[in-house]
Amino acid sequence: MRWMLQFWDSTIGKKYVMAVTGVGLVLFAVGHMAGNLQVFMGAQVFNDYAHKLQSLGPLLWIARAGLFTMAVLHIVSAVQLTMRARAARPVDYVKRESQIATWASRTMRVGGVLLAVFLVFHILHFTTGQLHPAFSKGGAYGNVVIGFGNVWVAIFYIVAMTFFGLHLYHGVWAGVRTLGVAKPNPNPMERKLALGLAIIVWAGFIAVPVGVLLGIVD
Ligand code: HEM
Repeated sequence: MRWMLQFWDSTIGKKYVMAVTGVGLVLFAVGHMAGNLQVFMGAQVFNDYAHKLQSLGPLLWIARAGLFTMAVLHIVSAVQLTMRARAARPVDYVKRESQIATWASRTMRVGGVLLAVFLVFHILHFTTGQLHPAFSKGGAYGNVVIGFGNVWVAIFYIVAMTFFGLHLYHGVWAGVRTLGVAKPNPNPMERKLALGLAIIVWAGFIAVPVGVLLGIVD
């Protein structure tokens, strides 16, 4: 127990927690994205799929609890690492010259905050329905079509998924480094793999609101 607290208290411990919970969250995101694509197979298939997930009963609640714990640990360690980095350098550099900073690495914090806001909206929109104009329990297909019938909501999802893609690109690459799977290298293979994964997840997620906007899903 004591070693766990010591580990959690160390900077590298928090980075490990971020990386391990990040892997779990990415696995969930890939599964969720693949499941969502069934919307292109019609209302029956998509509603049956959503119904099967809902009928998992206690298993669903275990998965929800695991997901929630991972998200909280990921966010808490990110906030604490940011606070430590600020405390270590209270006065910023006069001039910053990044070695290998990408747009993705620069938007990690703002993208992370946007994702947290997105998730709260998303659950109130498609799972509990408080922020949905005509929510129907058990009618996941109709909820998606009506939900993205509001073009601003569809755009919000597309923007959030774009930040999610960037977050994933940098996060997967950085996480691989933290877990010590790869040695430092300015142009490593894992970077290309992270980019490929981010593009697949981004394209798979935005396909749904884009499909509704184009009238392919109706
Ligand atoms: C365009 C992108 C997305 C679409 C169209 C979408 C669609 C949906 C739908 C339709 C549901 C409700 C399923 C049901 O009726 O049971 C749902 C639930 C959920 N989504 Fe998404 N989703 C998207 C992106 C995301 C992302 C990026 C995340 C997080 C990484 C996420 C996390 C969740 C969670 C946690 C739930 C609640 C699951 C539950 O507890 O029942 N979604 N999503």
